[in-house]
Amino acid sequence: MGSLGGLAADAPPILYVNGKRRILPLDIAHQTLLEYLRGLGLTGTKLGCGEGGCGACTVMISHFDPHQKSLIHRAVNACLTPVYSVEGMHVITIEGIGNSQRGLHPIQESLATQHGSQCGFCTPGFVMSMYALLRSRKGPPTEEEIEENLSGNLCRCTGYRPILDAFRVFAKTDDSVYSNEACNGTVAKKSVKVEKGTRICPSTGRPCDCNGNSQGQFSSTENPESQGHLCDSNGKAQGQSLGTDIKNASKTDSELIFPPELFSRTPQYLSLYGRDGILWFRPANLKDLLGLKHAHPDAKLIVGNTEVGIETRFKKVVYPVLISTTHVAEFNAINVRDDGVEIGSSVTLSRLLDVMRECMRERPAHETSACAAFIEQLRWFAGAQIRNVASVGGNICTASPISDLNPLWIASKSLFKLIDNKGSMKEVKAADFFVAYRKVAMDRNELLYSVFLPWTRKFEYVKEFKQAHRRDDDIALVNAGMRVFFTERDGTLVVKESTFVFGGVGPVPLSAKKTEAFLQDKEWKEETLQNVRATLREDIVIAENAPGGMAEFRSSLVASFFFKFFLLSSYKLEQQGKLVHNFPATYKSAVADYHKPPSRGSQSYQPSETSTAVGQPTMHLSARMQVTGEAEYTDDILMPPSGLHAALVLSTKPHAHIMSIDASETEMIAGFEGFFTAKDIPGGNDIGAIIADEELFATNVVTCVGQAIGIVVADTLENAKAAAQKVKIEYEELPAVLSIEDALKVGSFHPGTERLIQRGDVEACFASDDCDHIFEGTVRMGGQEHFYLEPNTSLVWTSDGGNEIFMASSTQSPQKHQKYVAHVLGIPMSKVVCKTKRIGGGFGGKETKSAFVAAAAAVPAYLLRKPVKLTLDRDIDMLITGQRHPFLGKYKVGYTKEGKVLALDLAIYNNGGNSLDLSHSVLDRAVFHSDNVYAIPNFRVFGRVCFTNLASNTAFRGFGGPQGMIIAENWIERIARSLNTPPEKIRELNFQEEGYELHYGQRVEHNTLHRVWDGVKESCEFEKRRSLVEIFNEQHKWRKRGVAMVPTKFGISFTAKFMNQAGALVQVYTDGTVLVTHGGVEMGQGLHTKVAQIAAASFGIPMSSVFISETSTDKVPNASPTAASASSDMYGQAVLDACEQIKSRMQPVKEENSSLSFSKLANACHLERIDLSAHGFYATPDINFDWVTGRGSPFSYFTFGAAFAEVEIDTLTGDFQIQRVDIVMDLGTSLNPAIDIGQIEGAFIQGLGWVALEEVKWGDKEHLWVKPGHLFTQGPGTYKLPTANDIPGEFHVSLLKDAPNIRAIHSSKAVGEPPLFLASSVFFAIKDAIMSARAEHGLHGFFVLDSPATPERIRMACADEFTKAFAAADFRPKLSV
Ligand SMILES: Cc1cc2nc3c(=O)[nH]c(=O)nc-3n(C[C@H](O)[C@H](O)[C@H](O)COP(=O)(O)OP(=O)(O)OC[C@H]3O[C@@H](n4cnc5c(N)ncnc54)[C@H](O)[C@@H]3O)c2cc1C
Ligand code: FES
Ligand code: FES
Repeated sequence: MGSLGGLAADAPPILYVNGKRRILPLDIAHQTLLEYLRGLGLTGTKLGCGEGGCGACTVMISHFDPHQKSLIHRAVNACLTPVYSVEGMHVITIEGIGNSQRGLHPIQESLATQHGSQCGFCTPGFVMSMYALLRSRKGPPTEEEIEENLSGNLCRCTGYRPILDAFRVFAKTDDSVYSNEACNGTVAKKSVKVEKGTRICPSTGRPCDCNGNSQGQFSSTENPESQGHLCDSNGKAQGQSLGTDIKNASKTDSELIFPPELFSRTPQYLSLYGRDGILWFRPANLKDLLGLKHAHPDAKLIVGNTEVGIETRFKKVVYPVLISTTHVAEFNAINVRDDGVEIGSSVTLSRLLDVMRECMRERPAHETSACAAFIEQLRWFAGAQIRNVASVGGNICTASPISDLNPLWIASKSLFKLIDNKGSMKEVKAADFFVAYRKVAMDRNELLYSVFLPWTRKFEYVKEFKQAHRRDDDIALVNAGMRVFFTERDGTLVVKESTFVFGGVGPVPLSAKKTEAFLQDKEWKEETLQNVRATLREDIVIAENAPGGMAEFRSSLVASFFFKFFLLSSYKLEQQGKLVHNFPATYKSAVADYHKPPSRGSQSYQPSETSTAVGQPTMHLSARMQVTGEAEYTDDILMPPSGLHAALVLSTKPHAHIMSIDASETEMIAGFEGFFTAKDIPGGNDIGAIIADEELFATNVVTCVGQAIGIVVADTLENAKAAAQKVKIEYEELPAVLSIEDALKVGSFHPGTERLIQRGDVEACFASDDCDHIFEGTVRMGGQEHFYLEPNTSLVWTSDGGNEIFMASSTQSPQKHQKYVAHVLGIPMSKVVCKTKRIGGGFGGKETKSAFVAAAAAVPAYLLRKPVKLTLDRDIDMLITGQRHPFLGKYKVGYTKEGKVLALDLAIYNNGGNSLDLSHSVLDRAVFHSDNVYAIPNFRVFGRVCFTNLASNTAFRGFGGPQGMIIAENWIERIARSLNTPPEKIRELNFQEEGYELHYGQRVEHNTLHRVWDGVKESCEFEKRRSLVEIFNEQHKWRKRGVAMVPTKFGISFTAKFMNQAGALVQVYTDGTVLVTHGGVEMGQGLHTKVAQIAAASFGIPMSSVFISETSTDKVPNASPTAASASSDMYGQAVLDACEQIKSRMQPVKEENSSLSFSKLANACHLERIDLSAHGFYATPDINFDWVTGRGSPFSYFTFGAAFAEVEIDTLTGDFQIQRVDIVMDLGTSLNPAIDIGQIEGAFIQGLGWVALEEVKWGDKEHLWVKPGHLFTQGPGTYKLPTANDIPGEFHVSLLKDAPNIRAIHSSKAVGEPPLFLASSVFFAIKDAIMSARAEHGLHGFFVLDSPATPERIRMACADEFTKAFAAADFRPKLSV
């Protein structure tokens, strides 16, 4: 091993992984724990983002802490954990807790049986977070703690409800899981009580009598054999079985114990190496640390690596010397003193939280006002996995202007203790520490030793504030730390000291000096408050184009935060009898604590009346493999020995001529194998989903940032990326079009994309006297990133001397991969095979855009005759693979004084980006759905696709339908507001009735709109809730509630007729088992499960006899992409067709012996030489459309649904919370109610992201602080999906009963896309709440709210005395459209 000045330890660096001792190589300092684990073949731990933002890589780390004398278990993000930082520790991955051979852990079993896994890519991360929570606690967690603990885990499929339900059973409030009766595998649960007095084991979540000794709290001198083990229900300390407490929780072997060797092992000094000569040191004591700092004054210190890891990975910063301070005792010490608490700089944030809580418990209340503020702020600081490793010192020394803690350290008058490399100490006030952007008052030879937080005094109050895009796990837009200390003067309290520090408003945390000076000796009364507003405006000035944008919002937040603090302090003084104020009771709402009770829900469906597999709430076929991490995804496939890794060379300009490409330096990179550009492509360089208007690799001109110019291959991924960095490209820039508005101005459209459909005579109607009112408006909505948890990946290899090509791809369309690869290589499709086992989510994003990945990898694979894998990093995936289309709608609507719509003239434009891809079809669906469910006698809709210099936008669940429908709901709502009528009344008044002829000529048949609408109305008790909301709003000035009900009608079928066809291959084997292959891809939506149910029901065999292995182009050719919600309909029919063929061939044998079991029958047929394999086919009948006449029936049928939402907003910050959602969907006779309900909930929460949370920001005219054409929101750090904390407090989902659909298999209906739009009920409920807020300030009637309704838009639309200094009441925050 490496050495420094004779300090090297004599033992090799080790760690334990899942109980197995491993010696670490000495030269992998550059590797993350995730890379190391996956390199060991432990591929259950997934790479979702690489930046600590998704939780897919969660593992549990255990170590013995000699200072705390306890065993510490922590969930961490393996993607940010340097592998050497866990030296001497025990790492438990998903593989270590249960699997299909050893049996499932109760957590795994519960998640599987509760339908908490759809695509399964996020699933191991959730299991590990929950596992670490249980093992790290002394008692069972509360439901709130479970929800909080999951804030660092994202799921894009399920909508979280089933995950929370699955985990809730481990909370102390629900005992049902601790019994054999629990978890019966259906949506409903039985609850059985644990006997009184039984203790729940914190490690397993099961009853036992281990008396809390299952982990931690013992000294290292105790017998290690008896320490840190889980215990069985008899309290035995080790070697226990987890048994079958959860039905089918079949794990029979022992739980992994903490390795005895690690108890007694003294942490040793480490000196190791990494790529490019990186040096890694881990001193074991202060002396060694200072020695190292002396020897390497510019060395980078690291603790949790949550900041440094981002810098090295994304900003490509190279730190040649790294020193980890995690094992230096002094840096981890906590010292509670009489005057305050001293915290070592390497103390983790989780520990800080514990310490603060302990101080709160043990010190007088007036001393811990600052502790309370830190506790609250840490609640919203990142996710648990980050807090478990990130350090106090790391946060301070990063000196980020948006650090959540630095404003609080300053406000609470903390002192930072510095130590230099000679051991001399000095103290610096926190207020003097931050000198410039990411620069601190610390010399090169100094380190941060500790932080001292003084206790607060009587009448001294400290408070934290933070507003982010999303409440959970998000960095602040603005945060603040505020303190005021009152003293008595002439019998009145006056301000003796005050500090107001704001983060996110400048390069360093800014103190409001003028305000502080102004307040000196002032009384705390309303007129003081009025004056402070002016001083604050002088103190904190945010320039229009300051980085991060949102100047108006951020300035308003500064004022709002101060107002909240003023009120809060006033109420505290009032409580202590020191102040009488005149604030109305309704003002209390400004300071109400955020409180979200654990979410609750109900799922209701009609049980199947048949005894066959169809209609049963069967668990997802892969669920058990997904919860154990055994389910294999493309990137998990073992790389063949000669395999190469690929990295793309991408354009950095939105529009430019390529002047030169210089790849000469790539050769300098070890392991480099080749760089390929357009000139190397053996076949055609022209590709495209519908028309070939894209180039695989750009030749002369690039038309967006992120366009591929070439591909590099090398022996390792790191080498491939390093070589790609070395390719130098010179450009000559050209003007770029970066938004729909730009495109409209300069006439930039994709050619031939105009669409026009007319019904009646719009002009004549407007000109007549029929319309009592006419108005015009625009509706703008931003895009949405798919954020499937599994990024795009493809592994391509050749065989037979390069004559045949194979690939495994993460795609919704293996056929497109086959086609693209054949085309770019210039070989026939018959020699190319694409296989897809399952994908970690697609949502439309892997329908066409993934094919490029396979085609790019195929070029070097074919030319070098070596396997090549191309996996896109999350940031690259987000940049180059397109998103949901932003839309702009311009409408003119005429209606009667009752609110009946008479005429609508609508123009809609979508932002296609730099190629057409599916934008035209997306526009078509928006055109078709632009009526939503409303009868419009005179209707003209025109549409066109804009060409912009942004990455080409593509399919996304709903495929333009939601965009068309939300435009409709906007003008409907406007009619309602103009007539002062509840929007729900206007909606009902305009409903399309049975048989109504739509603007494109199709008739609405079997219309269940009224039934779903009335069902929701009844379920949510609409009138009652509206009146309760009105009462709430009267009583709360600064918090408002709103309600809305929204209907939907979604047309089922691909709008391109030829795509409505499906094939399947069914093979019956002589043992009676059945192998089904069909053209559809399993992406979490349960397609394979439903198809297997159909096959099982058809043959009358159990589900266990049916197997679906993969989708493969050599089994079922020419398949359409798995999309348009229609796959169960189509592939179900195709499979049924094949089953029926086989059954009819079997019939004669069966007639001869009707008592034969299916396996015996199959064997008997085989002996009779009957073909037991059949190809099935289905083409959706009776669909057609003619764009020339604008008439036809493009859809097979419609799926109807309706939703109710109630929300509460904080009008001062724009924060919102969903109180309740009720949904009723008509899914005919459900094929599988558990899967269908999962689709509804998942789609709704994804839709929630679209309408209220997820904002895509491009470098355009609205965002001048982003480089032109670059994507700002390129990862989970900047782009915020809903988390478990964002889901409705109450979530009720019902499937409409007694509504068989005559037009689809087994009377079912398609479900994938239709529910997504129902989330717009949240958007309109938010708008309703804002209406009430505006009314308080004299603003009545309609106002424009663009989508998504982020906190910025909510806050600014509330338009009160705080915002008016910065923006007018009709201000429209900036949006990339
Ligand atoms: C997903 C994610 C979410 C996050 N969310 C938040 C959030 O909500 N709020 C927020 O404020 N931040 C957030 N952060 C930022 C980050 O987590 C914090 O800044 C964290 O506290 C850094 O601690 P660390 O131990 O990981 O630092 P490291 O990355 O290990 O080090 C950070 C810096 O501190 C220096 N340093 C560390 N210790 C010392 C010392 N003793 N003396 C001198 N220099 C030292 C290092 O040299 C380095 O420059 C987030 C980060 C991620 C990845
Ligand atoms: S992959 Fe580690 S948090 Fe996303
Ligand atoms: S199941 Fe969670 S991301 Fe797919």
